[in-house]
Amino acid sequence: MEKDLLGKTYSLRHRPRRNRKTKSVRDMVRETYLNPKDFILPLFVIEGKNRKEEIRSMPGQFRYSTDQVLEQCKRAHDLGIPGVALFPAVEDQLKDSFARESTNLEGLLPSTVMEIKNSVPDLTVITDVAMDPYSSDGHDGIVHQGQILNDPTLKVLSEMALTQAQAGADIVAPSDMMDGRVKVLRETLDENGFSEVGILAYSAKYASSFYGPFRDALESAPKSGDKKTYQMDPANRREALREVLLDVREGADMVMVKPALSYLDVISDVKRKFTVPVAAYNVSGEYAMIKFAAKAGAITEKAARDEMLLSIKRAGADIILSYFALDFAQDFKKNKF
Ligand code: PBG
Repeated sequence: MEKDLLGKTYSLRHRPRRNRKTKSVRDMVRETYLNPKDFILPLFVIEGKNRKEEIRSMPGQFRYSTDQVLEQCKRAHDLGIPGVALFPAVEDQLKDSFARESTNLEGLLPSTVMEIKNSVPDLTVITDVAMDPYSSDGHDGIVHQGQILNDPTLKVLSEMALTQAQAGADIVAPSDMMDGRVKVLRETLDENGFSEVGILAYSAKYASSFYGPFRDALESAPKSGDKKTYQMDPANRREALREVLLDVREGADMVMVKPALSYLDVISDVKRKFTVPVAAYNVSGEYAMIKFAAKAGAITEKAARDEMLLSIKRAGADIILSYFALDFAQDFKKNKF
């Protein structure tokens, strides 16, 4: 029995604060841990040698030439990050309406994949399957009279994925949101002897304003219109389960929710209803928000970063694609936590 300030005796049976009393007790009851193994590092690739260009809207993130990408891959691997996701910044003169450059095995992306697989073979290389970095229209599908054509785009995507597999990609990741693309990719890969190449489907990808800095990085913003006829409406939650169900049926090995932070409910739903691994993409705008808010003195960068990443894992993500992956892994090593 204890006495309160007025001398009345009382007993409080439940005191949740007891489990927060010391750091060691807090450690004991902690439900979620982040580890470098949870992460995939996205990297932007440019032509040239020894080039490293900072992306204006993503402080601390760069477009790297292939030799520099290799350095980043080695660092990531040494710090325990299991994979990288590559995005090529394709030169304007190589872009066309059919993304033809995406099937050039000697192009920027395939040659970078080959080099990574030669020098850091244990690192998993994930390649993006979508037309936009190669498209003069800046869309993820073939544009015809203002419409994004679904079925003709599938052919482009399957040839792109095949080229990436031939270059040595371990996992191809369609981020285009065309209907039926996972099925076509799986068939094409299998028919060509790439049944071991996995598919990470960007299944629930929303038409989000948080992709702005990424489109800066690749100069891949749509030239006209928006992506609302193929990317999902941010208002929809059940529809995400429909998209995931279709991709799983079509043969996706892993599925993704994107963006992450404004869609934690969706991550949690997908995790509960499916057994495939769930990835979440902590996108460029989410990275930029933390960076610029910290620069303005509004928040503490590392604490806010870890809280954000933790929330994505706590919601159910098994894999987190994040531009913070290297920073996090470095601090993880330093703090030995
Ligand atoms: C396009 C693609 C986008 C991103 C990854 N793949 C942008 C878009 O759909 O316009 C965004 C990633 C990010 O913002 O970090 N296929």
